[in-house]
Amino acid sequence: MRACQPNFSVSEERPAAEGGSEINAMAFIQGRQLHKTYHLGKTRVEALRGVDFAIERGEYVCIAGPSGAGKSTLLNLIGMLDAPTSGELYFDGQQITGKSDREVHDFRKSRVTFIFQSFNLIPVLDAYENIEFPLLIQNVGKKERRQRIERLAAAVGVETYLRHKPDELSGGQRQRVAIARALATQPALVLGDEPTANLDSVTGRKILELMREMNREQRTTFVVASHDEAVMREADRVIRVVDGVIQPADRALHVSA
Ligand SMILES: Nc1ncnc2c1ncn2[C@@H]1O[C@H](COP(=O)(O)OP(=O)(O)OP(=O)(O)O)[C@@H](O)[C@H]1O
Ligand SMILES: [Mg+2]
Repeated sequence: MRACQPNFSVSEERPAAEGGSEINAMAFIQGRQLHKTYHLGKTRVEALRGVDFAIERGEYVCIAGPSGAGKSTLLNLIGMLDAPTSGELYFDGQQITGKSDREVHDFRKSRVTFIFQSFNLIPVLDAYENIEFPLLIQNVGKKERRQRIERLAAAVGVETYLRHKPDELSGGQRQRVAIARALATQPALVLGDEPTANLDSVTGRKILELMREMNREQRTTFVVASHDEAVMREADRVIRVVDGVIQPADRALHVSA
């Protein structure tokens, strides 16, 4: 049972930028000694224990590692969806830990998008409207909205399904609409939890190309948890979550390209 796994930690394929747990003023996102402990009845699960990392703006990072190792937990901390049990998180020059929920929410909303494993599409809206929804909140103009939606829909291969409501789409199509919706807002940071997991390899490839293109053109930072070797190959860097303590870079752990 996953909850019984004792220890998890994170190692990086190459060392954290400039000096491990030292605060790097230049890093876009920095975690310092992040711990996350869950309590399930009498069971205590140390999902993360002492995680140090630094992610630069414009990096494309893959968080890899076995099931139950703490990848989603780490992603949730980076995305400020959950608070660490202890440790510090810095984002864009600001210390996040210690902020109130309201402050974190306001800070996060214009900067971070999450591609969830569950798609969270709005059932009464069709695919076009679902992708459009966050753009309306951001006051993006109509012409710009249409251009972004059409470009992204074509890129993820749902351009012929834009008038379908979520329950008129397959699971994979729903996932692609959700990805288009997440990317449409052009956030500074995109977090993805197994974004290609339920997709066929051709569509998965398309999504990866789209993410890489955004990363190059708009300097969008991507942090993606994945078991998928194609994702790891695409990434600039692999942060490998393994059980135990934080380990130094270990190239032997890296999946060969
Ligand atoms: N809300 C929670 N309550 C209790 N334990 C949790 C909770 N969320 C995660 N865990 C436990 O923490 C550990 C890390 O879970 P996490 O979901 O981060 O793993 P993961 O690396 O993302 O795994 P997978 O590859 O299967 O998605 C697991 O042992 C899991 O059972
Ligand atoms: Mg997970």
